[in-house]
Amino acid sequence: MAGTRYSREDIVRYLETARLSYQRIELPYGLATPGPDRRPTADVVFPAELGGQSVLDVGCFLGYFCHEAKRRGAGEVVGLDSNPERLGHARRLADMAGHDIAFRACDVETDELPGRFDIVVALNLLHHLRDPLAALAKLIRACRRQLVLEIAGLSDGSMRRYLKELGLRRRKRRVLEDLPLIGVGRDGASPLRERRFFFTPRAMENILTQHHRIFASVRATPSPKKGRTFVIAERRRIERLVLFAGPSGVGKSRLMQATMRPGTGLGARFGITEPSAWKAVQAVDLASEREAVSHGLVLHYDLLRSVVANYPSIAHDEALELLDCAGATVVYTLVCPLPVLRERVRERLRVERGPGSIRNLEVALRLYEDPARVRRVYEAWGDYLAARGLALELVDTSTDAYELRDRGILGEYLNG
Ligand SMILES: C[S@@+](CC[C@H](N)C(=O)[O-])C[C@H]1O[C@@H](n2cnc3c(N)ncnc32)[C@H](O)[C@@H]1O
Repeated sequence: MAGTRYSREDIVRYLETARLSYQRIELPYGLATPGPDRRPTADVVFPAELGGQSVLDVGCFLGYFCHEAKRRGAGEVVGLDSNPERLGHARRLADMAGHDIAFRACDVETDELPGRFDIVVALNLLHHLRDPLAALAKLIRACRRQLVLEIAGLSDGSMRRYLKELGLRRRKRRVLEDLPLIGVGRDGASPLRERRFFFTPRAMENILTQHHRIFASVRATPSPKKGRTFVIAERRRIERLVLFAGPSGVGKSRLMQATMRPGTGLGARFGITEPSAWKAVQAVDLASEREAVSHGLVLHYDLLRSVVANYPSIAHDEALELLDCAGATVVYTLVCPLPVLRERVRERLRVERGPGSIRNLEVALRLYEDPARVRRVYEAWGDYLAARGLALELVDTSTDAYELRDRGILGEYLNG
């Protein structure tokens, strides 16, 4: 343990008066705070060597996991908690242990989190919150590589009640646990705290993988703590992202295939040098794309996704979260004359089979009857890109020359 300016007597006196519990933190002279040994949890939460990665622990209590991160070679470590008394002890203990950890007061429900960290840890926190999903969104934004949660599932009492109400035997408990359920109410809470939510592991996995597209994988494993589960989510990291965006029928797949084919020279025009090192994915298939780290990704993005899903705006589309995972992003927006769009969609409707794709094409065809609506889709997309600091680069797909065009082409092509 690093040098300390505290004598053995100082620390013993402090431990006697502070009466700490909950987390056993090792201190100099072989001393430690009284509390359960959380090393088995730390071994799941962190790898043996953190190699300078930054760590944020939200709801850190006395800061045990911050100490553990430092011990494993973390760089910047920040512990947040809403309880000022605990933070005071956390600071004193870190000082005694000689660990450089920043402890800050923060209510995750009302305050912004202090920046982005490689690993974000929130253990046994969410079931204390009034709005855990809003807090979860903040945790996700703060996380660069890995999000580690320890969550409380439905309590034994609730399980028994639900099984009884469903007329199921007790041994069917696993059936409930394996469903994506959120328990709402006072489950296990003190009588004064009624607004609580409890997630089955499947519910949390679904939230992280289906409501968000930024995680490549999510793993749930039982915690040594009864009724608790670790949920570990690996964020995607894409060095370079190229988005081919456009409405149904504009020719995204054709252009994507042509750019990925070696020897066409098209890849280089769109910044895809060495296409073999790149991967091409459709937005609809993103959820099954499990690789966390990619050098280059080409995404096929249908501009009508938010229209078909009836979202209030393009920004609501979860597939676009992928833009937050990329180092460098270039967007190419494809355009062709409206009569060509209509004809291509009619042609596809003649050959498509799946009910999902037929519905999408029918929505597209109805939209293409109204040039003003099509122009609005492009305008909204241009505004969305501008808000993200990205340019509206237009590619003409009416011929295989795939020329880059200026904005004037929208008026010319989308008039009737
Ligand atoms: C059950 S303890 C878990 C402590 C630690 N994460 C662990 O697993 O050992 C929950 C911690 O979250 C803190 N907390 C509760 N609500 C919070 C909030 N809104 N913002 C930040 N911290 C909060 C509490 O003060 C407490 O220290």
